[in-house]
Amino acid sequence: MTGLDLTGRTAIVTGASRGIGLAIAQSIAAAGGNVVLTSRTQESADAAAAQVSGTVLGVAAHAVDEDAARRCVELTMERFGSVDILVNNAGTNPAFGPVIGQDHARFAKTFDVNVWAPVLWTSLVTEAWMGEHGGAVVNTASIGGLTLEANIGLYNASKAALIHLTKQIALELSPKVRVNAVAPGVVRTKLAEALWKNQEESVAGATALNRIGEPEDIGAAVAFLVSDAASWITGEVMVIDGGQRLGDAPLFRSGASLGV
Ligand SMILES: NC(=O)c1ccc[n+]([C@@H]2O[C@H](COP(=O)([O-])OP(=O)(O)OC[C@H]3O[C@@H](n4cnc5c(N)ncnc54)[C@H](OP(=O)(O)O)[C@@H]3O)[C@@H](O)[C@H]2O)c1
Repeated sequence: MTGLDLTGRTAIVTGASRGIGLAIAQSIAAAGGNVVLTSRTQESADAAAAQVSGTVLGVAAHAVDEDAARRCVELTMERFGSVDILVNNAGTNPAFGPVIGQDHARFAKTFDVNVWAPVLWTSLVTEAWMGEHGGAVVNTASIGGLTLEANIGLYNASKAALIHLTKQIALELSPKVRVNAVAPGVVRTKLAEALWKNQEESVAGATALNRIGEPEDIGAAVAFLVSDAASWITGEVMVIDGGQRLGDAPLFRSGASLGV
């Protein structure tokens, strides 16, 4: 239970078949909201919907397929009568390695799913409901969009673009629609397995809170950002990383920073 009230609101969460998206759907539903979960396959969307208690619907929609996205928004309007919340969560990272030398196919897939899709879905829900009635959008970015790292530079560049667009669109849709982003650190999901699976202790140790993130950590923050409790917050990027970006956590824990 989040302590937030989203009763009567309807949310679409893209990429909600597992990981962070599923946890976001569960948090919104726990606060009383209706939730439409998307996945690339109907089977996964249905399986995810079965893991959420509340009024939910699973819909197959590849995030960059405009026809499928439009159908999903129409279906949501028919079924629930509004789209008050959109969480652009679907993300991909097919381009591991240096940016230089990447091929166009990987570049295009990264930017299509991580950058174009949020613009597409936000445009569709604005046209269908939010432009007239208002609403809240949250984009799942990454702390990678705020820094430079080896081997995931293209993914990080796409998340930096998404952060910039979050602010741009927040201004374009103001004052009716609030648009924010979350920027997670390393979270225990399939997408990020290469970043934590065989090195969880050291990755956790580099954070002030001494653990990697769980999908529910992000779900709770998104439920807050789409609720009325955040009604004066727009164009912001909420970093949720256990304090990874604060600095040298092991040094502080050792007491060396105090000279002891
Ligand atoms: N995990 C982390 O450490 C971390 C950190 C920062 C940011 N993020 C971001 O968090 C978001 C969720 O990632 P995750 O870590 O939860 O990954 P995940 O567990 O691998 O889940 C990814 C989700 O996105 C869906 N998806 C992938 N491509 C899609 C597409 N083209 N169209 C529709 N859905 C698509 C997948 O659904 P299907 O496979 O069923 O289609 C799945 O539900 C992403 O935007 C990611 O960049 C993750």
